[in-house]
Amino acid sequence: MIELAYSILAADFTNLAADMAAAERGGGTVCHVDVMDGHFVPNITFGPPVTAAVRSVTKVPLNVHLMIEDPDRYIADFAKAGASHLLVHQEVCRHLHRTLTAIREHGMEPAVVINPATPVETIIEVLPLVHHVLVMTVNPGFGGQSFIPRTVRKIEHLASLRNELGLNYRIEVDGGIAHDTVAEVVRAGADLLVSGSAIFAGPGEQAQTEANAREFLRLAREAAPVSA
Ligand code: DX5
Ligand code: ZN
Repeated sequence: MIELAYSILAADFTNLAADMAAAERGGGTVCHVDVMDGHFVPNITFGPPVTAAVRSVTKVPLNVHLMIEDPDRYIADFAKAGASHLLVHQEVCRHLHRTLTAIREHGMEPAVVINPATPVETIIEVLPLVHHVLVMTVNPGFGGQSFIPRTVRKIEHLASLRNELGLNYRIEVDGGIAHDTVAEVVRAGADLLVSGSAIFAGPGEQAQTEANAREFLRLAREAAPVSA
């Protein structure tokens, strides 16, 4: 099933609930929350308190993307804040199997994320454990960056591995996914589509945000294989 996970990083923080509602009226069915620590990535955003606030104003699943060192320390906090999916980067997890297992034990769906320079081979052993894999299509840290085309082959690789291994993880993409890039990643096999700057139109522009989301999903579904 093709879904839009709207990224609140691009929303108006002074009017977050209204912006989220607009993205959902346009068809967004997942809320993507970017947690950055200023160490793993060169930017700082928000943590469990804002996640809990976001949880209180929407019913859709919260897809919480941890771009932080030592994510194990915060699993319980994000469970308490109401995260539905907890996403950790392969690059920071020394014991990836243990971390993903702990996320599930805390009642959340575990997901693993790989940066553009990280090969799919590094996560093969944990594929049976995850609800989804997030393929970063930009280097994490900022919204509004350009899509890196070479990442498409990793999406295709993950889609064919899913068949070969008889697994059912979903494939998520994040970074530079916009109206002009979404068809290519959907054709490659992605079905959980993060988008921020292509969706949120700016303060007070909820009608345009809603229209952006609707058009984004139309283009994504048009590109999807018939079964998606
Ligand atoms: C980037 C974040 C993304 C970001 C995407 O590090 O992980 O989720 O919000 O923003 P856009 O859609 O603007 O590339
Ligand atoms: Zn993200």
